[in-house]
Amino acid sequence: MKQIQTQGLVLAALLSLTGAMSFAQSSGESVYKAKCQMCHGASGMADTPAAKAMKVKPVTDPDVKKLSEAQMIDATRSGSGKMQPYKDKLTEAQIKDVTAYFRTFLK
Ligand code: HEC
Repeated sequence: MKQIQTQGLVLAALLSLTGAMSFAQSSGESVYKAKCQMCHGASGMADTPAAKAMKVKPVTDPDVKKLSEAQMIDATRSGSGKMQPYKDKLTEAQIKDVTAYFRTFLK
């Protein structure tokens, strides 16, 4: 009986762990959808009205493609041109996650 209870506990711990992990994986995506998509487009193509008004470059633009991940993290953290800085609005981990998600559009 005791053994079964322990197994149940281990299982519960494992389940909550995978739950936390999948949340971490998708948080870049949810931050992007909430905070970046209106200006950078659903797939980074800058195809929204706000993007056109602000002349945001699509991820296919050579100027965007040549940026390293560190430079993009920096642009998100400290702002770039007309884009506001996000360092007071997002945590450092969120900035990294959302930039990593943005970079998936480069491929
Ligand atoms: C209000 C519109 C707006 C929002 C919201 C916005 N951006 Fe931007 N972003 C811009 C503009 C405009 C530029 C281009 C600045 C320039 O070329 O001088 C830019 C530039 C960038 C760059 C540099 C590379 C490039 O495309 O020129 C990165 C990386 C970036 N944004 C990421 C993000 C992330 C991540 C978010 C969400 C946390 C975000 N942006 C939200 C308008 C926005």
